[in-house]
Order: sequence, then structure tokens, then C-alpha cells
Amino acid sequence: MPEASTRRFGVAGYPVAHSRSPEMHMVAYAKLGIDADYQRLPIPPELFEETVRGLPASGFSGINVTIPHKEAALALADVASDRARAIGAANTLSFTDGTIHAENTDAPALAAALGELRSIDGARVLVLGAGGTSRAACWALKDAGAEVSVWNRTAGRASRLAGELGVSTVESPEGGSGFDVVVNTTSVGMDDSASEEETLSALGLSLSAFEGAAIVVDFVYRAGGSPLSNAARRQGLSVVEGPDLLARQAALSFELWFSTPAPLATMRAALA
Ligand code: ATR
Repeated sequence: MPEASTRRFGVAGYPVAHSRSPEMHMVAYAKLGIDADYQRLPIPPELFEETVRGLPASGFSGINVTIPHKEAALALADVASDRARAIGAANTLSFTDGTIHAENTDAPALAAALGELRSIDGARVLVLGAGGTSRAACWALKDAGAEVSVWNRTAGRASRLAGELGVSTVESPEGGSGFDVVVNTTSVGMDDSASEEETLSALGLSLSAFEGAAIVVDFVYRAGGSPLSNAARRQGLSVVEGPDLLARQAALSFELWFSTPAPLATMRAALA
């Protein structure tokens, strides 16, 4: 049990045993000499709201939220940012003076990572997938001026997302040709047994169809690199990888809670 003066944070998910968030946040606290603790909070969906509402009384100042709670987190918040509301999901809750604030740091994490490689304004971007991660990606890219097209295995889900967020859909990824940036928000490649060939085939991608300085962004986190990012790198393409996006969203949550710059490089190194 942390000391009463220690500020408490955590990551709520179900399951959450796989989450690397505690390592990233704890190294940041150690580096900056902050008296805080960060733990995994396995909370089943039916207990999510009740449990979260009880956290401030146990010394918690905020939590990150992961699968499957991101929509529920937005729904229970007293105050939400325009961004979280437009995306329809929150990955960060802050508890201040009896009020629960919701924010989404997945979206600015993507914009910052991709923005270091090229201008997003005017970029033709193909987003693969239509779940919560895709919603954050589509919102961030459109907000930064990209021309966004979405493809999803289940087409109806892509159409719904496109209608709500004001982006387009494509019937087929067509190898990825004709796009400046391809963003994978699906879970394809996450499974340790998934090969590069299977991953590319499930996503309808052919790296040889990519043009010029096309960039691949893959939200999949896998030890040793995801199949898509490894294949893209070998092809000589620029890549934004899952661990980079994970560290950036964590750093942005940290900055909301502590109002001080996060040690991003240290947090990223904790994932190595
Ligand atoms: P998240 O909130 O993390 O985005 P999600 O809502 O479960 O998670 O979405 C997972 C995405 O991965 C969906 O777009 C899903 O496609 P469907 O809507 O057709 O289910 C996609 N996905 C998962 N497995 C896939 C596979 N084998 N091939 C293609 N897409 C897949």
C-alpha cells in the first residue's frame, strides 16, 4: 500500500496484465523524483463505473483506460474535452475536486509522431480498422488537415465511423497504392504467431504498391517489432511503431496530471 501522501494512478482494463503502462509511468516518477505510484487495475465491465467513482477516495488522482473501457470512461465523466467527445472515447481520466475529467491522448500522440516525419495537412491517408483506435486516428488526422479514407473488414462499421467523423470509406485497401500514409489500427499482427505475409494479406496491403516516400503507422505492439512495421522497414519505408505511440499517449497523460513536461525518451526506453 502506498503512503497516504503518495499520489496514486493506474491503468484500468480487462484484462490488463499485459499493459506496459506501469513501467512507463514509474520510470518517469523515478526520473523526476515524483512521489507517486502507478498500478494495473483489472476491472470487469459491469463494475467499471462503480469502481472508478470510488478511486478518488482511495487516493487516486487519475487513471488511464484501455480495452474495453474507453467508451464507458467518456460516458461516466462529468467533464470531457471536445476532442474526447468527438472521438467518442477517453483513455485518460483525471480526478479533481470531486469532478471526473475525460481526455483522449491517443489522437495527439499519433499527430505528434506522424507530424515529425511529414506534414499531415493535405496527406492522403488510408486508415485500416474501424474500432476505438481508428476513431482516434481518423479524428486526429482529419483535424490536422489530412484526406482520410477508412477500410474495415466489416464494411458497415467503417461506413458508420465515416459518417460520424466526416471521413471517406474505400471498398478495398488495394495494396495501399495511392496513399501517402497507411495507418493500421486493427489487431492484425498482434498474435505472436502472425507472419508478415499473413498480416499483409489480412490487411489487403502490398508494400511494393506503395509510392515514393509513403509512411506506415502501426498501432500493433509486439516484442521484436510488429510484422507490418518490420516488413515496411525492410522495404525502406518510414515507420511509426506501436511502442512510440504508446509512449507518447502515456507522456501526454502524465503532463495532464503533473503539469510538467514528461521525460518521453525515458518512458519510451522503458518499453525496450
Ligand atoms: P480497438 O478499440 O482497439 O480499435 P476493436 O474495436 O476491437 O479494438 O477493433 C478491432 C479492429 O481490428 C476492427 O476494425 C476489426 O475489424 P472488424 O470490425 O471487421 O471486426 C479489426 N480486425 C480484427 N481482426 C481482424 C482480422 N483478422 N482481419 C481484419 N481486421 C481485423
